Amino acid sequence: MNSNIFYSQTGYRNMARKKISVIGAGNVGASVAQALAIEKLGNIYLFDVVDGVPEGKALDIQEGAPHWGYDLEIKGFTTTKPEVYENLKGSDVIVITAGLARKPGMSRDDLLGKNVEILSSVSQSIKKYSPESRIIVVTNPADVMAYAVQKVTGIAPERIIGLGGSLDSSRFRTFLSMELGVSVKDINAFVIGGHGDDMVPFIRYSSAGGIPIERLLSKEKIEEIVKRTRFGGGEIVNYLKTGSAYYAPSISITAMVRAIIDDENRIIPSAAYLSGTHAKHYGASGIFIGLPIKIGSNGVEHIYDIDFNPDELELWKRTVESVKSGCAKVDEFLSVKKN
Ligand code: LAC
Repeated sequence: MNSNIFYSQTGYRNMARKKISVIGAGNVGASVAQALAIEKLGNIYLFDVVDGVPEGKALDIQEGAPHWGYDLEIKGFTTTKPEVYENLKGSDVIVITAGLARKPGMSRDDLLGKNVEILSSVSQSIKKYSPESRIIVVTNPADVMAYAVQKVTGIAPERIIGLGGSLDSSRFRTFLSMELGVSVKDINAFVIGGHGDDMVPFIRYSSAGGIPIERLLSKEKIEEIVKRTRFGGGEIVNYLKTGSAYYAPSISITAMVRAIIDDENRIIPSAAYLSGTHAKHYGASGIFIGLPIKIGSNGVEHIYDIDFNPDELELWKRTVESVKSGCAKVDEFLSVKKN
């Protein structure tokens, strides 16, 4: 009993809209659903295992429609049975947020074991019902989980993108803007590498109004901001105590969804699958990791190479190693499951 009645009377809306499914209706999933609705990006379908929560949150978001003017179908589905995932059919984009979130003292990697189990079962359903969609993986550790989703579904890697740089760069740009006292709109900066504590805020290409930040801030100040960015997620966890960030993540995810739905060809640093020339260049063959990528209707439209200086290369190697070790754990988990 929700938006069905309203929409069955005006069914044309269902035909015209894109379909976006969000798996996991916790803080991140629900906030993404709301942000997607506000941006009118498509009909939104929320899935969660907790009985009634996806239906309740979907209806709650729907009821705000008159103020924002979103004529969308927003529905929730409790996934007590795997067949419920049939409702994923025809999704243009699927956002996966299901899984455990961090508590104080935990790193994103601490979540690996439990979350790979959850995602491997979710991935089976995606493979069965909606293998043609583009997928954004948010569940942490996101680069490693993107790898797991690809392994289980066998979906073309360019249609799978992990959340990382979109959020980390948003934090980096915010901190730079606060320090410089200039508009965030004028800060151009990105973060590459894994979405973990050894991510790489890329100082050399960061600027304010085109002026390199190294000309505007001392080395010490920049180091401070880099460190705060790296631990930006943890800083919020420490405040919240019961979970991790969701407002900045949800907007960062929405920007990625928008880039796909509107075929924007936006450059948003995110975790993409590296192979071929990219992998050779970066020594990161066969994993998902953050680089500036062009996002459009196909998902990853292009991956941009960066020529590292020796210091940057060291940082890059370190983050590659941590993502690789996570992926090795996924391989182990999936092979144990198979045997
Ligand atoms: C964070 C989580 C979403 O960085 O990884 O806040």
